[in-house]
Amino acid sequence: MEEKRILCIGLVCLDIINVVDRYPEEDSDTRCLSQRWQRGGNASNSSTVLSLLGVPCSFMGSLAPSRVADFILDDLQRYNIEINHTILHPGCDFPASIVISNVSNGSRTILHMNRNLPDVTAEDFEKVNLSNYKWIHWEARNASEQVKMIQQVEHYNASVSSDQKITISVEIEKPREDLYQMFSYGEVVFVSKEVARDFGYESACAAVKGLYSRVKKGAYLICPWADKGADAVGPDGIIVHSDAFSPEVVVDTLGAGDTFNACVICALSRGQSLQEALVFGCQIAGKKCGVHGYDGIV
Ligand code: ADP
Ligand code: FRU
Repeated sequence: MEEKRILCIGLVCLDIINVVDRYPEEDSDTRCLSQRWQRGGNASNSSTVLSLLGVPCSFMGSLAPSRVADFILDDLQRYNIEINHTILHPGCDFPASIVISNVSNGSRTILHMNRNLPDVTAEDFEKVNLSNYKWIHWEARNASEQVKMIQQVEHYNASVSSDQKITISVEIEKPREDLYQMFSYGEVVFVSKEVARDFGYESACAAVKGLYSRVKKGAYLICPWADKGADAVGPDGIIVHSDAFSPEVVVDTLGAGDTFNACVICALSRGQSLQEALVFGCQIAGKKCGVHGYDGIV
């Protein structure tokens, strides 16, 4: 029987990355060091890293048919990411981000465009053959639909033996009230420092302590915090921490969080401890910050 896969559900977009050595002034006319197209979107980036880690991985998201979509589909294929569940929406605009990637400090400034592309629905998700998957990860977007998808998986889990159950993880990255219902779903919840700050927390440790009452019984809550590393807590209430692993020079932090999530999911899905998963996540996310893109980080 084929090895069960990990499915990531969320955004795929085009990142038009402009590499600069100084952040441009408004209304100035400057030349960038380089420019490239890169497949982006949190769930899509996490799929890339899972695949680089040797995990059989699938992506589910929406695409608007276009030349950009051809680039994206080629790239998903190049990274050996299965795209059976990608939904095409003719007539919509392909989401794209202009990214200013500053090599002098590694910062990434993102300007998004997503006008009218609908997210995956619970009805789309009904077509997924759940028996192919051991883990499904949701990037919180259209939360009320995503809750319905998660309930489908909970229903499936209740009907199969424990070794066939699907682990559910959720990432709450954007500080938006409507996404906060996702805290109470899944065995693993990732919360960003932006969301933590929205709740008034100024460290990963304070965030996981303060937000733990929102997650489902028995779940892990995990919070990465850039060059401060990451903290997490599980049902035993013990706070686990990993320092960041800083590369010699931080050149590109775009997708560091997506890399971290993929590595933590990979480690936990292979039976490693929460502590081991955090360290692994920080190690590979740190390596990612030292290079442009993802190649060579594993
Ligand atoms: P995001 O990319 O979503 O903003 P974070 O900034 O929290 O995510 O970073 C995720 C992980 O990436 C951190 O836990 C850390 O391990 C690593 N990381 C991010 N920035 C740096 C950095 N400047 N130096 C070393 N590691 C970093
Ligand atoms: C990085 C990223 C980019 C994309 C943006 C969308 O985490 O997924 O690839 O442009 O964030 O929010």
